[in-house]
Amino acid sequence: MAVLSPSIFAADLLNLQKEINETETAGARWLHVDVMDGVFVPNLSFGYSAVRDLRSATDMVLDVHLMIDRPIRYVRDFCSAGADYITVHVEADTRGNTSDALDTISAFGAKPGIAVKPQTPVDAVFPFLTKCHLVLIMTVEPGFGGQRFMREMLPRIEKVREFIDNNSLNCLISVDGGIDRLTGAECVSSGADVLVAGSAFYRSSSKEELVSLFAN
Ligand code: DX5
Ligand code: ZN
Repeated sequence: MAVLSPSIFAADLLNLQKEINETETAGARWLHVDVMDGVFVPNLSFGYSAVRDLRSATDMVLDVHLMIDRPIRYVRDFCSAGADYITVHVEADTRGNTSDALDTISAFGAKPGIAVKPQTPVDAVFPFLTKCHLVLIMTVEPGFGGQRFMREMLPRIEKVREFIDNNSLNCLISVDGGIDRLTGAECVSSGADVLVAGSAFYRSSSKEELVSLFAN
């Protein structure tokens, strides 16, 4: 069983209020917000003012995914904007700065998360997991929605699940990229707790069914 975290990046931005309402009506409890800086990934998306506006529009858990270089520069702003979870990439800065960014997120009242890209050895996140409430395993190269799920990422989910369970850590496993009802089910079997879904959710005519399929 898992939580579905619809990625607002895939929504119709001209009708954002309607999309948020439909997401809530479908029963989603989380909302994933992709932040891209054009440096860490070759695309641009939302900034912290978008998170602030989303915060005023919904009570859903705001699950903010920072695909930005040296995120320590901005984590305070995302905390002030009202993010619930703030996830930084393990590849985005030095080990020391990443650790400081996670501490800052906690100190400013949000829950820190660490994300890992497909080409990075998954063990890179292990030293940070005691500080984290979430670990985000990318199942596509970050930067764009609508890509094909990388099935070869499934063993990483199992490996992180084992590490979390063996060390009795309080850390959710999230997966992001190419998640639909089939790939989502495979991720849940491998040990995922949170399923981020962009295209599969916002293009679906049965959003409620998709949420309830994985609901706890
Ligand atoms: C990719 C983003 C994802 C993306 C998922 O860089 O982190 O959250 O929006 O979109 P789909 O579900 O379409 O792969
Ligand atoms: Zn994301």
